[in-house]
Amino acid sequence: MEGETSWVSHCIDDIGRDVGEFDSYSELSDEENKEIMAVSLDLILPDDLLERILAYLPIASIFKAGCVCKRWHEIVNSRRFSWNFSRVLSQKPWYFMFTSSDEPIGYAYDPILRKWYGIELPCIETSNWFIASSGGLVSFMDNESRSELYVCNPINKRRRKLEQPPGLKFSDYSALAISVNRMSRNYNVSVVKSKQVPGDFFQWDLSIHVYDSETLMWVTPLTEVLTGWRGGDESVICDGVLYFLIYSMGGGSPENRHGLIAYNLSSRLSPGLLTRSSIPVPCSLTCGRLMNLKDKLVMVGGIGKQDRPDIIKGIGIWILNGKEWQEIARMPHKFFQGFGEFDDVFASSGTDDLIYIQSYGAPALLVFDMNQKQWRWSQKCPVTKKFPLQLFTGFCFEPRLETDP
Ligand SMILES: *[C@@H]1O[C@H](CO)[C@@H](O)[C@H](O)[C@H]1NC(C)=O
Ligand SMILES: *[C@@H]1O[C@H](CO)[C@@H](O)[C@H](O)[C@H]1NC(C)=O
Ligand SMILES: *[C@@H]1O[C@H](CO)[C@@H](O)[C@H](O)[C@H]1NC(C)=O
Ligand SMILES: *[C@@H]1O[C@H](CO)[C@@H](O)[C@H](O)[C@H]1NC(C)=O
Repeated sequence: MEGETSWVSHCIDDIGRDVGEFDSYSELSDEENKEIMAVSLDLILPDDLLERILAYLPIASIFKAGCVCKRWHEIVNSRRFSWNFSRVLSQKPWYFMFTSSDEPIGYAYDPILRKWYGIELPCIETSNWFIASSGGLVSFMDNESRSELYVCNPINKRRRKLEQPPGLKFSDYSALAISVNRMSRNYNVSVVKSKQVPGDFFQWDLSIHVYDSETLMWVTPLTEVLTGWRGGDESVICDGVLYFLIYSMGGGSPENRHGLIAYNLSSRLSPGLLTRSSIPVPCSLTCGRLMNLKDKLVMVGGIGKQDRPDIIKGIGIWILNGKEWQEIARMPHKFFQGFGEFDDVFASSGTDDLIYIQSYGAPALLVFDMNQKQWRWSQKCPVTKKFPLQLFTGFCFEPRLETDP
């Protein structure tokens, strides 16, 4: 494990001080002192009680606690602990921010402790791979051959390589999504591929491929030719329904440039119905992103100016109720301006009840809490921008010990 994760590799020398590389980013420095007191309690506590206490620690502290002694190490690494742990505490989703475009290097942000951790992601080779996450698992697909596909847990580093998805070898666009069932811990990975029909700008072959971890197999429930629309790289699975954005190939007003397709993975529409059942997006959007927040479909997008739809004047958040979009928040102007150079492209990603938004041009990270309807800057990322074209991006995932690919 050495060198994998800062909270693991630094914990031995650091016990007794504030642990980790980023002392200056921590707010809760008395926490470690409490842990030290627990060491003496260690003698009198039976295993099950100790287990229960450890289970209430934030996930990074659990890893540190595992370094205290052999007994604690065995407890936190046992399967029994991680299963029980999942029932005790719900962790808030973390955000992993890439700070290099060439390598998958970056830091993960924990919104509860408001700390950044240097964690290493398994599997992925560059930050422009396709990424999707659900229930503690993250799926990565390479952006060249689109045949290397992994599912991993970035916290416990367990991983699995999936067979390459069937269908077109070289698609023009691909959209990746994953959905974990919390009870059975099975998961589905979906890839929506689209490719222009040779010689015809308006016709696009679209296919949906779904991997089921129970059968370990891919199926292709749908292939269809779209006219006037193409698929893209944005999709998500909510409550058994695969949603993806489609993009108009011209014609129509700016408001009708994007549509949303809802494809129920269980009932499986017959082909030919896809675009007829598409749901228009509420306004002209840039950087439209789909996310699953507590099994509701949420979309985040930049709202274009009336006359220049490519220039954004704000960022909105919508939730889909049936076939209707309801705007639930708009980023207040002071936060929008707080990004500094906002060059109209941004990343956003969310799960559970948090949405993270960041500009590609800077490591500033804004968090929107859906329950409290509150915007808040993250603690400052330990990395600063070093050269003008340095890009930042990232994704959100649930830190969970117990989900294995
Ligand atoms: C942990 O799981 C075991 C079974 O694996 C169970 O007997 C025990 O009560 C659980 N403990 C807690 C704290 O849930
Ligand atoms: C995949 O690569 C293309 C070309 O470099 C890029 O435009 C696209 O954004 C990449 N996709 C992702 C998910 O990063
Ligand atoms: C995966 O999708 C199939 C339908 O294709 C569905 O029956 C199954 O419940 C899904 N599994 C998960 C874990 O969501
Ligand atoms: C998807 O289809 C199945 C089977 O027809 C149905 O039971 C389920 O309610 C549908 N899901 C949604 C979200 O509409």
